Amino acid sequence: MKFIKFKNEQESSKYVADLIVKKINHNPKLILGLATGSTPVKLYSLLVENYKTSTHPKTDWSHVKTFNLDEYIGVNYHDAVSYHSFMAKNLFNHVNVNHHNTFFPDPKIDYDELIKENGGIDLQILGIGANGHIGFNEVGSPQHSLTWLVDLVPATIEANAKKYFDGNIDLVPKKALSMGLGSIINAKEIILLAFGASKTEAIKKLKTATKFDINFPASFLVNHKNVTIIVDEGVDVDL
Ligand code: F6R
Repeated sequence: MKFIKFKNEQESSKYVADLIVKKINHNPKLILGLATGSTPVKLYSLLVENYKTSTHPKTDWSHVKTFNLDEYIGVNYHDAVSYHSFMAKNLFNHVNVNHHNTFFPDPKIDYDELIKENGGIDLQILGIGANGHIGFNEVGSPQHSLTWLVDLVPATIEANAKKYFDGNIDLVPKKALSMGLGSIINAKEIILLAFGASKTEAIKKLKTATKFDINFPASFLVNHKNVTIIVDEGVDVDL
């Protein structure tokens, strides 16, 4: 696992945005794995900025395919809180990605099979929960699970209530479909982003992890050969 620290969220996100643009220019049929949450918002805005301003070459998303990590169950895709809406608002509506090429876990499809049929994920972008969760793979998630139906734990429900529902826990969806740790590990390359002091403990644990620990889901990353962890100076860890 490689760790890189940048000054702030802007510089970290710029590094990743530049890398993604380079990969798309090199391989127009790039398969991207994407996350939601506050962490990748800056990255997505920089990708949008690049799309609007790039010229020679103009970044072309028309053949790129994207697979998102997770989506709530029981929320209409058009609802503002759905991850479909989040991605549309932050990225998909502003670049020339073909909407038929953007995928989310769905109870009606075998998501892992679909990813495999498309050749697998070239680059997976991840955030991390303060407790080490990845996607909706919470503490106790098995290492080899594929896309699965999960019950959100109270801490995640509370965090989501604060972020998206004015603190009202009753409005937060309690179930989600999430790529499993066993799905994510199949990506050819993984970049995990973590910003701010609230991620310090999780990154400290990740830094010292040597094998998978069911009490710390992010530790599954020790079993992948091409992982980069990108943090900002808010994350108080010596790297
Ligand atoms: C969402 C996802 C989650 C977030 C995590 C961190 O697709 O994968 O695991 O990455 O909850 O959330 P933020 O980025 O809001 O701190």
